[in-house]
Amino acid sequence: MLFKCSVCNYTHEGDSAPDFCPKCGAPKEKFNQLDEATTKKVYASDETNDLLMKFIATCHDLFPLCERGIEINLDPACRSFFTKAKDALWTLKQNAKAEIENHIGKNKW
Ligand SMILES: [Fe+2]
Repeated sequence: MLFKCSVCNYTHEGDSAPDFCPKCGAPKEKFNQLDEATTKKVYASDETNDLLMKFIATCHDLFPLCERGIEINLDPACRSFFTKAKDALWTLKQNAKAEIENHIGKNKW
């Protein structure tokens, strides 16, 4: 079963709500048990949300690589490649963020 803190939105997994929220310290009474449909959505989207977060982090980690390629400026084609790659990474990263935001809005979080 899943229980959500009504104060901070922390989600707890267990047979009952925790005595106190591990995130904000709110008492057990502030937790609401998620209904079956919402619980299924949370579990079904868990791995995909993790993948999206890793994807965003990977895009972030590749920015310096692109900037270094632009800085080296071996030839115009290479500079163009790294410039396009940097722009594409930004677009992909923002797409992934939008997807996560959509998931949150649909209880897929
Ligand atoms: Fe909380």
